[in-house]
Order: sequence, then structure tokens, then C-alpha cells
Amino acid sequence: MMEQRLAGKTALVTGAAHGQGRAHCLRLAAEGADIVAIDMAGQNLDVAYPLGTWKELLETVAEVEKLGRRGIALSADIRDREALAKAVAESEKDFPQLDVLVANAGMGAYGRVLETPIETWDQVIAVNLTGTFNTIQAFAPRMIAGGKGGSIIVTSSVSGSKGLPFTGAYAASKHGLQGLVKVLAQELAEHSIRVNSVNPGPIATPLTTDKTGPALLQGDGPEATLFLGSFSPLLPLPEGGFLDAKEVSGAVSWLASDDSRYVTGLAVPVDAGVMAR
Ligand SMILES: NC(=O)c1ccc[n+]([C@@H]2O[C@H](COP(=O)([O-])OP(=O)(O)OC[C@H]3O[C@@H](n4cnc5c(N)ncnc54)[C@H](O)[C@@H]3O)[C@@H](O)[C@H]2O)c1
Repeated sequence: MMEQRLAGKTALVTGAAHGQGRAHCLRLAAEGADIVAIDMAGQNLDVAYPLGTWKELLETVAEVEKLGRRGIALSADIRDREALAKAVAESEKDFPQLDVLVANAGMGAYGRVLETPIETWDQVIAVNLTGTFNTIQAFAPRMIAGGKGGSIIVTSSVSGSKGLPFTGAYAASKHGLQGLVKVLAQELAEHSIRVNSVNPGPIATPLTTDKTGPALLQGDGPEATLFLGSFSPLLPLPEGGFLDAKEVSGAVSWLASDDSRYVTGLAVPVDAGVMAR
């Protein structure tokens, strides 16, 4: 059994149906946290990979319960402020205190900036940047009202700090999140609420099954060469070239716990060294 360093805490995770969000729910629960699991739970974005389903979200909660923790599944699109307000009201009944908020839901998109349709740009900014803003605006007041401090963890990316070619809308949205994290770290410090980001490198999730990106970025063409000039890990990667989502969960659980009690405003890369270049 893992050390129960999150015992007595409640953590809310968005994008919890599968991928990194689910891995975070299970790690936080394994360390003692009860879980509010939120996902859009429907294929409501224009993307070429599977988004989370309601069934998967229920599976996440069932796994949390198997670990002996309480969990609740709520469907909400983080672009929809009314749906988030409803999720606040629904989760408050059984989970009145909120200690940890993992704003993880997000989407990927590839393409040259000059060829990016405005609809793609708008969708990526609406989900990754405005959706994260909506999530924090909806739930952070619960933490403040609880009066016990808290930890907000935003899922950014190496694209939050690097100009990875062919990820213009995505990089703009994730760079925006870094600004939001640093400003919030200052504005919420008086409530002992810490705000940090995790910045994953290549993680094996349904998002990375998107064939539109790899088609552009793999092989030895000029695009791949340009991309790999920015996106090149130092450490050997597992076979297949992707890290397991659990690797990011380790950083999330540290940021959620009191072991990082004086850490705020930080971007924590879990990228096998991409950021070190
Ligand atoms: N996979 C990677 O290589 C990688 C690398 C860096 C950063 N990230 C970031 O990690 C986060 C999680 O990604 P993942 O790899 O697990 O992706 P994923 O697509 O496998 O999972 C994302 C989950 O978020 C949900 N979601 C998407 N849009 C939503 C919305 N508007 N409202 C509510 N839920 C929504 C989806 O249904 C899905 O369950 C994202 O913010 C992503 O940008 C991923």
C-alpha cells in the first residue's frame, strides 16, 4: 500500500475518463484522496482520435472505489460554464471540501500556422485555455471557502514553453496556461492555495493516436527534422517512444501533497529531458 499522504483530501480531476486524467485519479486515490471525476464524455470535438466516454468515466470511478476511496462521475464540457456551475453544485453535496484541482482536460491539434483553419484555432483556445480558466473560476472559490488552502495543478505541455513547429494553436493555448499559472500563484497565495503546472512530453494516451500529427512529424522529411530539432528527449524512451501516463501522475501527486507545500508558480516537466535542450 502506498503512503497515504493525501488521506482526508478531495481531488477533482477534469478529463478523467481515460488517458492522463484517469491515471491521475487512480494515483491520487491510491494515496488516500477521494475523487470527483469530470469529463465531457462524448465525441464533441473535431478531432481524429477517440475522446472519453461516459462508460470510461464510470470505469475510472469504479477503479477509485476498488482502491477503497469514494468517487463521483460528472459529465461537463469545460467550455460550458453553466455545466461547470452544475458540477460545482452536484459535487458539493457529497464532497463539501475541495483540496486539489487537476485541470487536465485538453485537446491536441497539429498543422502549420498559416494553414490552420480559424475553426481549429478557436476550438483549441476554447478548450485548452478558456476551458481551463473556466474550470479554475468555477472550483477555486470552493477551495477559498474551505479555508484550508489547496493545490491547483494545470496540465500544460512542453508546448507550453517551446515553439514546437506544427503545433501553433496548441502551443499558443499552452503558453497561455503558463501565464495563467504564474498570475494565479500570486493571486491565490494569500489563501495558501498553490498553483503549478505539469508539462508532459510524449505520453501514450488516446490523444497521441491522432494520425494527423505523426503523419507530418514522423519519417525523415524536412517537417520531421524541424520538429525533432525542438522535440528531442535526452533520456531513452520506452519502446514505442511514449511515456506511460503514470509517469505524469507521480508529479501530479507530489504537487497535490504537502511534500510540495512551498512550491508554487512552477512548471514541472515530465518529458525525459526535452526541456533541457
Ligand atoms: N498525450 C500527450 O502526449 C500529451 C503531452 C503533453 C500534454 N498533454 C495534455 O495532457 C492533457 C490530457 O491529455 P491526454 O493525453 O490524456 O488526452 P486524451 O485525449 O487521451 O484525454 C483527454 C480527456 O479530456 C476529455 N476532454 C477533452 N475536451 C474536454 C472538454 N472540453 N471538457 C471536458 N473534458 C474534455 C476527453 O474526453 C478525454 O477523456 C491534455 O491537456 C493534453 O493537452 C498531452
